[in-house]
Amino acid sequence: MTENQTAEYVPGLEGIVAARTRKSSVDGLAGQLTIGGFPLEELAANATYEEAVFLLWNDRLPTSAELGALRHDLAAARTLSATTTQLLAEAARQRVGAMDALRMGAATLTLGAGDQPFPSEPRQAAMRLVAAFPTIVATYWRYLKGELPIAPEASLGHAANYLYMLNGTVPSAARARALETYLNTVIDHGLNASTFTARVIMSTGSDMISAVVGAIGALKGPLHGGAPGPALDMVFEIGDASRARTVLEEMLARGERLMGFGHRVYKVRDPRADVLSKAAEELYAADGDMRLYELAKAVEATALQVLEEHKPGRNLQTNVEFFTALVLHGLGLETDLFTPTFAVGRVGGWSAHCFEQLAENRLIRPRSQYMGERGRRWTPLAERG
Ligand SMILES: CC(C)(COP(=O)(O)OP(=O)(O)OC[C@H]1O[C@@H](n2cnc3c(N)ncnc32)[C@H](O)[C@@H]1OP(=O)(O)O)[C@@H](O)C(=O)NCCC(=O)NCCS
Repeated sequence: MTENQTAEYVPGLEGIVAARTRKSSVDGLAGQLTIGGFPLEELAANATYEEAVFLLWNDRLPTSAELGALRHDLAAARTLSATTTQLLAEAARQRVGAMDALRMGAATLTLGAGDQPFPSEPRQAAMRLVAAFPTIVATYWRYLKGELPIAPEASLGHAANYLYMLNGTVPSAARARALETYLNTVIDHGLNASTFTARVIMSTGSDMISAVVGAIGALKGPLHGGAPGPALDMVFEIGDASRARTVLEEMLARGERLMGFGHRVYKVRDPRADVLSKAAEELYAADGDMRLYELAKAVEATALQVLEEHKPGRNLQTNVEFFTALVLHGLGLETDLFTPTFAVGRVGGWSAHCFEQLAENRLIRPRSQYMGERGRRWTPLAERG
């Protein structure tokens, strides 16, 4: 037996520990997510996004001077080069998908822009990536809608400025807070596929922009970046709480899955769902249609009952997508913006993992099990018919 036949093959690398990290820990059995040492519930609704980024980059909270410096540096790195803007205009004209536009836009960040030099150091690249992601998404989105992009506003925080660039209105404190809580909630989540992708690219000695562009490609896939739209579609389709049980039971009878429920890792309630449920409640109470929030909560409660009746013992619980959809919809974001907005949050985690990989690098190079034939003899083309 050859060496590669003796090693155990684990499809999807499930259960394999492929990195050591101080960034986050996902405990699927206990339903706990720890980010930079903080329980998610402690961090998400308290931190600004800039504080969460500092935490992941430095493994501690910033002092107020450090936070001021980071806010300043990020705000200064938001503006895109003319080349990036033109590319996004073309992407919108060709109606390329939002994640493809983000991937292409992010790739151009290797170019300098204005007084932002070519980001040669990992620190500069990380700053540029985190700062420019919202500008890329908002610029593309405005062009897609036939509108001109809105220049970033340096006096606004990261989350507030993203909403401002999308619709031209300075958001209320409640709206900025809801987005901030969302971005913090998704900033990192263990060794998920896109984070692993970034670390693999980094481990080859490549650069951080390449690593993050690869990560965007991984996040684009529906098995990872998800399609949070369907969860909300389901709530809209139900329309009235009195119809919830009938509609949900019909869905299950047709063999369909209830969108926004169940999770591969979390076998109890996804802690992100609770944090975002609370964020949604606060957002809708302050600045939204409370009837939609109440309908969604009623649909959730009925779905949990119906799932327990139809799949007893499976413990299928609400996942992050259900309340992501509610929060982002409440912020006025269309569903095509949901996954790019996930990326706007997750780039903080990707960049932090890149730093961590650099600090203790070893080329990530697993093995494969050869399943093909051996010892084939060459047949000349003329004899192959
Ligand atoms: C997220 C998800 C893929 C995780 O799946 P998983 O851990 O691989 O679980 P499985 O696919 O093995 O499903 C286990 C069982 O629970 C059932 N199940 C899982 N999620 C379900 C759901 N949302 N609705 C109904 N049944 C569900 C499966 O039918 C299966 O039942 P069975 O063994 O009787 O056939 C799965 O829960 C799902 O498809 N959820 C709905 C999609 C979703 O919420 N996506 C988010 C975007 S809105």
